[in-house]
Amino acid sequence: MCGIVGYLGNKKAIPVIMQGLKSLEYRGYDSAGIAYIKNDKVNIIKKAGKIKNLDNVLNYKEDTYLGIAHTRWATHGKANDINAHPHKYGKITIVHNGIIENYDNLKKELIKKGKTFISETDTEVVACLLDEIYEKNKNMLEAINLLAKRLNGSYALNIICSDEPHTLYAVRKDSPLIVGNGNQEYILASDIPALLHVTNKYFLLDNYDIVKIDNNGLKFYDENLKQIKKQEKVYTGDLEVSSKKGYDHFMLKEINEQPELIKKLFRKYAIGDKFSNVFDISKYKSIEIVACGSAYHAGLIGKYYIEHLANIKTTVTYASEYRYQKNFFDKDSLVIIISQSGETADSLAALKLAKKNKIDTLAIVNVFESSIAREAKYVFYTEAGIEVAVATTKAYLAQILVLLMLAANTLKDQSEVINSLKLLPNLLSQYINNYDYKKIAKKLVNYEHIFYLGRGLDFSLAMEGSLKLKEISYIHSEAYPAGELKHGTISLIDKNTGIIAIVIDKTIKEKTISNIKEVASRGAKILAITNDEKNEFSDTKILLEDYNDILNPLVTIISMQLLAYHIAKLKKCDIDKPRNLAKSVTVE
Ligand code: AGP
Ligand code: GLU
Repeated sequence: MCGIVGYLGNKKAIPVIMQGLKSLEYRGYDSAGIAYIKNDKVNIIKKAGKIKNLDNVLNYKEDTYLGIAHTRWATHGKANDINAHPHKYGKITIVHNGIIENYDNLKKELIKKGKTFISETDTEVVACLLDEIYEKNKNMLEAINLLAKRLNGSYALNIICSDEPHTLYAVRKDSPLIVGNGNQEYILASDIPALLHVTNKYFLLDNYDIVKIDNNGLKFYDENLKQIKKQEKVYTGDLEVSSKKGYDHFMLKEINEQPELIKKLFRKYAIGDKFSNVFDISKYKSIEIVACGSAYHAGLIGKYYIEHLANIKTTVTYASEYRYQKNFFDKDSLVIIISQSGETADSLAALKLAKKNKIDTLAIVNVFESSIAREAKYVFYTEAGIEVAVATTKAYLAQILVLLMLAANTLKDQSEVINSLKLLPNLLSQYINNYDYKKIAKKLVNYEHIFYLGRGLDFSLAMEGSLKLKEISYIHSEAYPAGELKHGTISLIDKNTGIIAIVIDKTIKEKTISNIKEVASRGAKILAITNDEKNEFSDTKILLEDYNDILNPLVTIISMQLLAYHIAKLKKCDIDKPRNLAKSVTVE
């Protein structure tokens, strides 16, 4: 959610900043704005809607070398020009990612002192408070430090003070912010893609670290205002993260990257006929997987593998529920947090709670050194590379593979899993290239409601299939356990309901097929994604080969991803950036 960019350097700032901001579009936003220094004065331009609305009114040739910019994902106040960032109060101009939980009390306190506000945002309150503190002590470092002590909640802030037009400040707590270190130029950003056009060298910030950048260079201060040294990191991944490499969409590119990703995971985590460097879960009596969205769905498939292969009881909980339920914090249990971004606020909060209760925590994370990766006791990276499309595909598959490796690593004989996974890249390429998903998508595109039905493992797969479809095509879809339908929901089924039946799990196939026939009797047309060759229960099918229990769910995933993609494409949806969604959900 939200993208932040700040720049100070020897190039004209607006083009550099806007390139960075555009590469953060995937994070989700509803307005955009920029503040830059020209002739020692702050200029602010901000617009509701897409970045192009802002772009249209900017002069890229403007003589400016310092600026801050923002894409806002509104939390406090509508998405309009006034609430858009940057916010200026007195001498302070800021952009902010996060939520200030005590903003209401702070606002009341400031109003009592005669301050007035023009926006509905929590951010303007931060600008006002910082201005008030600064006016008293006239020392920006001290003022930012005092500000941080007054704020509850999460924030990444880029700050300009009108008295110091050649200096850029920043501070963060629980919202992402990194500092790119170029050759006599510096770029602050929410994520790596936004700095790669300037540099691949960067610093991570810890909570409450303060950054000061001016003509003397870059300095870091800790929460006691002691100057500190930070270790420089070098990003060595794909430099062309912002390129679709010939594909129509990032989502399609990322679906196509999955075969190579499996090979990469294999090279890293398998030697001969054994997994190596894989965390050992065998000492735990139970496992609790905690995650959101697709990562939660990956957890459900992981539960199947861990229970069947490792024989360890596993539960899967939504991170947004975890903190509010009764937890037993059994010392023999392991909490696994799964997250692509590593920044999801609910998952991070769940992780902190488990840690506080002295439970071992393992993070399965895609983004290196993200907050969740840094907070957990143990980390297992999914190695999927930067994922740009908001709807996850390759990172979800990688999460499942990592969970499978954790489970398989407990086996004496791991050769079946290893040999199966060796076949997977070619199988996936086959399913990506050999099916006319568009033809099948045409049969489904006009439905207003589509149910995904399945039982057992098929239901877990159905949940992800349904989420993919609704998030990118805006078709209302539900995943339902096929056996539950007759307990109420079947009343919704008629000839206008689309049904996608997932029939892969042989142990329960016959029962699922009976349930599918029940909906077919109510006039619904059935598309089956199945490995049942006879398949007399569907009108259309995507026929998958029957491999084994390890491979069957994994090849099903590809078909569901491509089906959702082609339906959304026929509907001309904004596939990579669906409305209202954010790639990294940094609010609870
Ligand atoms: C997936 O397509 C979604 N956009 C979403 O459900 C996502 O999986 C969820 O927000 C969790 O994100 P995370 O993996 O970054 O924690
Ligand atoms: N809470 C702030 C607002 O609503 C910032 C939201 C964001 O992170 O974009 O303006």
